[in-house]
Amino acid sequence: GLPARVRVHEVGARDGLQNEKTTVPTAVKAEFVHRLAGAGLTTIEATSFVHPKWVPQLADAEQLFPLLSDVDAALPVLVPNERGLDRALALGARRVAVFASATESFAKANLNRTVDEALAMFEPVVARARAEGVHVRGYLSMCFGDPWEGAVPVDQVVRVCRALLDQGCDELSLGDTIGVATPGHVAALLTALNEQGVPTGALGVHFHDTYGQALANTLAALRHGVTTVDSSAGGLGGCPYAKSATGNLATEDLVWMLQGLGIDTGVDLGRLVATSEWMAGHLGRPSPSRTVRALGNT
Ligand code: HMG
Ligand code: MG
Repeated sequence: GLPARVRVHEVGARDGLQNEKTTVPTAVKAEFVHRLAGAGLTTIEATSFVHPKWVPQLADAEQLFPLLSDVDAALPVLVPNERGLDRALALGARRVAVFASATESFAKANLNRTVDEALAMFEPVVARARAEGVHVRGYLSMCFGDPWEGAVPVDQVVRVCRALLDQGCDELSLGDTIGVATPGHVAALLTALNEQGVPTGALGVHFHDTYGQALANTLAALRHGVTTVDSSAGGLGGCPYAKSATGNLATEDLVWMLQGLGIDTGVDLGRLVATSEWMAGHLGRPSPSRTVRALGNT
């Protein structure tokens, strides 16, 4: 069966904009988040409190976050370490996300750490956030394939998932960072996680659309009981530290499929398409989303 409702975790302002060559002005980012909320999105990842040299596109987090105080949506932010958590808490963030890797190569490239060193870095972040009543998401990248290591064994993914849950993460997001997953692999991973006692209710899925499989993979996950799906408005996105990554599953493509299945998301597709067209104008290139192109005016 399929769920009656899906929660869309919108990542365009973070995963999308972190990978754009042009740095979008802070005021445009703020308007983007307001427009996403106006289109009915209830969870909008806003920015990252990472090292500004690692992700210069999001170096304005301190300036942006206060401009979002009137946004009627949950606004999670990425924090890699205690320094990031301090910055986020100082601005009143109530939801944070740490981001682990299932592979050593990506842990090194993205966090300058081994997998276990990165987990050790997250431990006090998760503990302190929880003590403050702040919701913690744990991302896990390279759950299916890795550009340096190839196919990623399911056991390796299960181990890091367990570690993040044991640290106290409220939810996990399974990342197909470079978009190589196919539906059978998704089903196999979710089955293995179930067998290891990981509750499906704690899992979200995060598909990049490099090979055009993101929607098929999402459907496989929904059939498995997953009800949280990450996507980015207009299909913005990628990851600067994983060179074969393209944009995330486009929120419009996701909502089009879910509407057709009679699954409620609360998203107004027309307003969302207009928002993505407006952002495409700022970025100077058309949205890669098929649904934006089909329904839009440009
Ligand atoms: P490092 O170089 O090992 O840092 O980087 P360090 O811990 O050695 O600290 C060095 C200096 O950086 C220190 O300053 C720190 O204070 C400063 P100094 O004492 O030398 O003057 N520093 C910071 N400054 C500001 N904010 C901070 C911070 N931390 C340290 N938070 C580090 C380690 C984790 C900082 C770095 O690797 C980093 O920032 N990485 C972030 C990479 C990133 O954001 N990647 C994209 C997000 S992940 C993703 O996109 C995947 C996802 O979408 C899921 C999927 O698709 O799979 C989530
Ligand atoms: Mg991503």
